[in-house]
Amino acid sequence: MEPAQKDRTPFSDIDGLSAQMSEIVLDALTEMGRHPEIQRVRRTAFDMLGPAAGERLLDAGSGSGEVARLLAARVGPAGEVLAVDHSSAITAAAVSRHDGSAVSYLTGDAAALAMPDDHVDGVWCERVLQHVDDADATIRELVRVTRPGGRICLVDTDWGSLAFDGMPSGLGEVVLAHVRGHFTPRQHDMGRTLRRRLVGAGLRNVVAAPVTCLFTSPESAAVVLPMVNPRVPEETWATPPGLRDEWLACVDAAGQSGTFLAVLTIWVVAGTKA
Ligand SMILES: C[S@@+](CC[C@H](N)C(=O)[O-])C[C@H]1O[C@@H](n2cnc3c(N)ncnc32)[C@H](O)[C@@H]1O
Repeated sequence: MEPAQKDRTPFSDIDGLSAQMSEIVLDALTEMGRHPEIQRVRRTAFDMLGPAAGERLLDAGSGSGEVARLLAARVGPAGEVLAVDHSSAITAAAVSRHDGSAVSYLTGDAAALAMPDDHVDGVWCERVLQHVDDADATIRELVRVTRPGGRICLVDTDWGSLAFDGMPSGLGEVVLAHVRGHFTPRQHDMGRTLRRRLVGAGLRNVVAAPVTCLFTSPESAAVVLPMVNPRVPEETWATPPGLRDEWLACVDAAGQSGTFLAVLTIWVVAGTKA
């Protein structure tokens, strides 16, 4: 049976984390937003959603609210962005970063939104569906709150695409097998399923773009990939004793020699409500 949401990755239940892990997760979201490869993913998503002045948009699973504030800059003072996140801790962090733009920060479940039908002109939902219990039910809810003709843009990781070079490949496979369902969600191929899910939900004009992110140093990769991040506390690793240190030593050596490489595809998919 699929484990309950809170039993999965750190992002599934941020409020249930230790203070140390919660801080790491918040820092990670902030750093990710600054990473050039994530910014490239977001540019693709902005082009697909096409936010316009005066619109009311929903950012579902809005994290620290960074994208919500970027969307607010696009919709302007006549528009509005509703930033909804499951975690009250992350919502509080988002509120503390508020810049005065037209964003309302709300705690809530993207699968059960406290909003009427057809309430928003568009939806952004980035790297959230991989963490939820039922992605299709969540998508149905996003469709419900979108007006006919409104656009829904989903962004999600395809962890099954993650590949490394520069370290012993056998070791990398063993590590990935141990961290699947732990650092990465069990639904590890969410990104590639988004197009099928939006078509299945009845959306029109569904477009999909796989954005393959390239990391050529451990430091750059560690922002997005927890399994190469030495800051992630040892006790949170699901690996047998010694394996983490052996792996991180190889990652470090590949970084020193300039041969480290990692690639990860993040999908951007959008469709229009009929
Ligand atoms: C990887 S973070 C992405 C945050 C933000 N979208 C971004 O790209 O920076 C995943 C976010 O989804 C939120 N989340 C997880 N399950 C959720 C749910 N059922 N409803 C709303 N938010 C959820 C988490 O609290 C977390 O802030």
